[in-house]
Amino acid sequence: MVPNTLCIVMVGLPARGKSTIARKLRENLSRDRISCRIFNNGQLRRRIRSQDTSRPEFYDPNNEVGVRLRERIALINLDRARRYLENGGQVAIIDATNVSLKRRRKVQSFLGEHPILFIECVNDDEEILEASIRHKTRLPEFQGLSAELAMESFKKRILYYNTIYNPLGEERDFIRLDSLNNRILQEEIVSDIPFYDRIRDFLVTDSVKNLFLIRHGETYFNLENRIGGDSSLTQKGKEQAEALARYFQKKRIPFIFTSKKKRTVETAEPIQRLQESCSIIPLEEFNEIDSGICECMSYEEIQQQMPDVYYARKQDKYNYVYPEGEGYVTMKSRVDRGIKKALFLSGGAENIMIVGHRAVNRMILSHFLYRRTEDVPYIYIPQDKFYHIVATQYKKLFQLKPYT
Ligand code: F6P
Repeated sequence: MVPNTLCIVMVGLPARGKSTIARKLRENLSRDRISCRIFNNGQLRRRIRSQDTSRPEFYDPNNEVGVRLRERIALINLDRARRYLENGGQVAIIDATNVSLKRRRKVQSFLGEHPILFIECVNDDEEILEASIRHKTRLPEFQGLSAELAMESFKKRILYYNTIYNPLGEERDFIRLDSLNNRILQEEIVSDIPFYDRIRDFLVTDSVKNLFLIRHGETYFNLENRIGGDSSLTQKGKEQAEALARYFQKKRIPFIFTSKKKRTVETAEPIQRLQESCSIIPLEEFNEIDSGICECMSYEEIQQQMPDVYYARKQDKYNYVYPEGEGYVTMKSRVDRGIKKALFLSGGAENIMIVGHRAVNRMILSHFLYRRTEDVPYIYIPQDKFYHIVATQYKKLFQLKPYT
């Protein structure tokens, strides 16, 4: 065994975020000058046999040809990983499903005494899975299929893997990770695992390389100082969206997350049009604060018609909850969930964008930049500027920038 080297073995059903985590680990370890390489079984499979491996039957555990080919690929990668570690590499990551006990025992016996850290990615959030599978079906291997057939095929593939799935438990050193929430579900570490603290820390840290946080353009409701509702952009709002599109044209923005409200989607669409490849993903979690019985009223109307609501909110804006609606305090968990979803779905992309609303953007900002709760409902969220946020273990940046 070469001292101070480690083999990380990813475990989990398809579309659970294994490759994103593997890439993040490699990036972070390399930054600390720890040499690291990923050995991805899927990539090798696509290189060796590109045509017929997109059919779900290829993954049927009773399909001997498929099983044999996948075993061969696993062994090739294990052998490459071992050689990498014997020749100066420090961390090898085996990125594959490795869901069966049988496969993991094979890995263990192949690597012998070599320290192995198993990391299992768990995520059963239906909505996220659906979006994440949809994204995967854009891979070249599904090229010949319609989007719906590709989805069906990928889901069948997952079902096949599920029939042989054994969660981690008997392995010597392992982490089971909720890959959506960056939360460790179970951890058993018996050996002295090189770089362990560093790796564990990466796994639980929310990290975003470049997040462009934008508020939707001006709406008809904004003109009348009305809150909530589902108003469209005004001419000025549309021009703001066009200006944003031009501003971001030279950056690659593969994902724009919006709320389900028209005004955020209408702001995102012109940006998407000037990008080569960009998905707009509307998330309910980014909907604006629900102002309950005050929806669609102006602040002046609330003050006149419901002075108790108006003044109680003024008194303690963060903790005040609109009757039949929400308050900042009750929005927190859903907005946090939206952020986790966006980070998961964007898979570590260099740039991501969120087009949100005033209250929602305040919550998103305060997720990354600590503010006292009483100050959160007053964070400045203009429509003619955006926030550029970088939040990694190495860099924190919050910049308010004009786009015109
Ligand atoms: O006015 C726009 C708006 O996004 C409303 O829909 C929302 O109720 C309000 O801003 C949130 O801001 P505040 O908490 O300051 O009222």
